[in-house]
Amino acid sequence: MKFTVSRSIGTQQRLSRKIITQDKSIALVPTMGFLHQGHLSLIRRGLRKADIVVTSIFVNPAQFAPHEDFNQYPRDHKSDLQKIRSAGGQIVFMPKASDIYPVDYETYVTVENMTGALEGKSRPTHFRGVTTIVAQLFNIIRPDFALFGMKDYQQAMVLKKMCSDLNWPIKMIIVPTLREKDGLAMSSRNKYLSPLLRAEAPALYQSLLAARQSARRGETGAAAIRRQMKRLIDKAAPSGKIDYIAFTEMESLIPVRRVDKNTVVSLAVKLGPIRLIDNLKIA
Ligand code: PAF
Repeated sequence: MKFTVSRSIGTQQRLSRKIITQDKSIALVPTMGFLHQGHLSLIRRGLRKADIVVTSIFVNPAQFAPHEDFNQYPRDHKSDLQKIRSAGGQIVFMPKASDIYPVDYETYVTVENMTGALEGKSRPTHFRGVTTIVAQLFNIIRPDFALFGMKDYQQAMVLKKMCSDLNWPIKMIIVPTLREKDGLAMSSRNKYLSPLLRAEAPALYQSLLAARQSARRGETGAAAIRRQMKRLIDKAAPSGKIDYIAFTEMESLIPVRRVDKNTVVSLAVKLGPIRLIDNLKIA
């Protein structure tokens, strides 16, 4: 299929209808643009699953609180389109905010309980925005598969829950986090780290690896492992302010005191003005 950019909901709906009528499958990779290798790995994985990969680029205002970085969020559409094209993605959906959220818009999708903890504590309106835009994308694009990165662990689990609760016949594929050579999880926001903060940032992943190592050596107490992680971060990333270090059951996000093979340890740390998140399955 010829590389196509659809800029309106109607155009995308027609394209999707045509693909479905031809009995071809669609994989959706939702993004907010400023693509890095992590996004491209989702596109490549999508191409192994489906005939057509649709990548959406939309910086979703509904998932940013008024004090957050919506206006500063990095954008580079020209380079994004080139990257998607060279990764093999066939369609890019780039709607206008005023089409997705017209002035009289008033419908939101909320996953109730799983969104209160972790990221939801610091960003209480964030997940309502994420689930609403992804629900819209599912309805407009009608994918068979949707791909999300494990880097945004809570987001991935919340979206899986939304998809199963609302009975969309979409297979949700969660792809492992892609990392820089020094372990820092790839993220569009990394570009805002000063050289000093960038040098401290790998401490997050090092603390996750240390947590895993402790668990593998037999430590089961979440509190003890958290203390160890905090010591490591305080030492290796002195500019860091830990927002949370949490131990939760993989799918349900229920907090655990004793870690086991289904535990995910996740954290959020503010390095200067940049808030970084990361996570690791402990066993
Ligand atoms: O992970 C992201 O980039 C966004 O939260 C998503 C899933 C594209 C929704 O805007």
